[in-house]
Amino acid sequence: MCGIVGIVGHSPVAPLLVEALKRLEYRGYDSAGIATVEHGELARRRAEGKLVNLQRKLDGEPLGGLIGIGHTRWATHGVPNETNAHPHFSDGVAIVHNGIIENFAELREELKKDGYSFTSQTDTEVVAHLVGRELAAGVPPVEAAHRALKRLEGAFALAIMFRGDEDLIVGARNGPPLAVGHGKGEMFLGSDAIALAPFTNSITYLEDGDWVVVRRNEFAIFDMEGNPVKRKRQQSLGTSFMVDKGNHRHFMEKEIHEQPEVIAHTLAHYLDFANGTSRPLDLPFDFAKLDRLTISACGTAYLAGLVSKYWFERLAKLPVDVDIASEFRYREVPLSTKSAAFFVSQSGETADTLASLRYCKAAGVPIGSIVNVRESTIARESDVTLPTLAGPEIGVASTKAFTCQLSVLASLAVRAAAARGAISSEEERAMVRSLSEAPRYAAQVLKLDGQIEKVARELAHYKHVLYLGRDTNYPLAMEGALKLKEISYIHAEGYAAGELKHGPIALIDEQMPVIVIAPHDRIFEKTVSNMQEVAARGGKIILITDTKGAARATVDTMETIVLPDMPEIIAPIVYALPIQLLAYYTAVFMGTDVDQPRNLAKSVTVE
Ligand code: F6R
Repeated sequence: MCGIVGIVGHSPVAPLLVEALKRLEYRGYDSAGIATVEHGELARRRAEGKLVNLQRKLDGEPLGGLIGIGHTRWATHGVPNETNAHPHFSDGVAIVHNGIIENFAELREELKKDGYSFTSQTDTEVVAHLVGRELAAGVPPVEAAHRALKRLEGAFALAIMFRGDEDLIVGARNGPPLAVGHGKGEMFLGSDAIALAPFTNSITYLEDGDWVVVRRNEFAIFDMEGNPVKRKRQQSLGTSFMVDKGNHRHFMEKEIHEQPEVIAHTLAHYLDFANGTSRPLDLPFDFAKLDRLTISACGTAYLAGLVSKYWFERLAKLPVDVDIASEFRYREVPLSTKSAAFFVSQSGETADTLASLRYCKAAGVPIGSIVNVRESTIARESDVTLPTLAGPEIGVASTKAFTCQLSVLASLAVRAAAARGAISSEEERAMVRSLSEAPRYAAQVLKLDGQIEKVARELAHYKHVLYLGRDTNYPLAMEGALKLKEISYIHAEGYAAGELKHGPIALIDEQMPVIVIAPHDRIFEKTVSNMQEVAARGGKIILITDTKGAARATVDTMETIVLPDMPEIIAPIVYALPIQLLAYYTAVFMGTDVDQPRNLAKSVTVE
């Protein structure tokens, strides 16, 4: 992960680097640092922890210079302290890096034998010394960088700057994203267009294996053999504003509350509410001719895919394989020639999801991606991009992106069902009508936040929580547990309610609340039986259900959160909100860093 930036500018560069890093903090926030060249000399400031610590340091010890590089870190090699913070120096060179150098151990040994000593535990420092060694041998900077790059294995986005040259940064990409930003008499490098948005929206994305020489008034991109390559310059879309929290305490709270609106936007993109039909899509395959759909994603996006399995199979009679991308990519899955593959990702940069996409692409399978960042690598490498219209999601815990992913997938399932003749046009109209009601129900559920806050106050006293659900509520139970553990650090597990008796029931006691997601659906009675099993063993139940379910659940609960009765197809979208609020308020009571929980980053570009 990590975010990197480079600026060859015409005004003091340090504040500009910090501005760009603020926009990249979602990629990691363990430590941050910048380096500049002033009067020919390299200098740097680095600080452990959030960017604000670096800012404080720079207030006390400012850095001059018109050229610089910056970094915000998500630690892979070495603890997140100042010594391991980037930029890393060797004699005459400064480097920032996002990714993992896989052959760093052997390179380190080789460099040690050559007399180089290491001040950090990072893999990045080897790159600095590799370039430094070439410089020391009299190789000019650009060639020195190129020679070093050819020695690297693994994933990297790099920005390299040199002592004595105030008009040169070398960038390179193999895996994690890197973009060149074009200004007037100034040039930029950044992990994404968002970082560069205050300076320019004219962007050229590097492709894997590219490296670039950036100067104030020119740039040139090469492949690893040193041949010049051409990449398209494009205008980046709508990222120039810095999103703020509005009246909310945290981005996560704001993003939860934005859901009625962004779900409505997303659904309207795919569904024609007036005619009661799903909109035609320019897909690289025909749903009617598919024998299988493969969905691959990570974390919350994977769970959105898992919910959609129920929709595609039930409504469209289309078999679906859903995989965690880090498993899928190495499993050597045989793929049918009559299949299509969907990849779900908020950031569009998740390394494992991207690798899975490339695996399917190499097998000739048509690719669709459900992404929130439309200019991301996953979007660019797909045959068709099916955007979620969630807007920028800043809170590390995904909320509105998840419900927008569900909205896209539900719309696609209806489209597939109609295309495959699995539903009549009357049924399609009814489903579209039901989906159009999701934003209204989501808004109603947000009004329950007083009650949910009260439940969360109680939940914050426990160390373990179990989430249970059946059918689409099973992936939702896993999502509830994921949300809770990632921001409140309470240990939580999500299980299929029917699986309880096969092991997890042994955990039940009064110290472990059990949250059951059970709208009054086709298998409600089965879930009630599972709740009885919990209650019989002294388990404390928090039931999230609807009016009908509350009236029919014959179990004593610690609390029942009652949602309005709603059509079955929208329940997974709407029931996501109470579990998000529950995690949010619990984390607030626990006093954790809600928007930037420990050890995490928003965009996971390492495997
Ligand atoms: C959890 C969360 C993560 C992401 C996962 C995939 O709240 O946000 O589990 O869903 O890292 O990220 P994307 O969607 O960017 O591919």
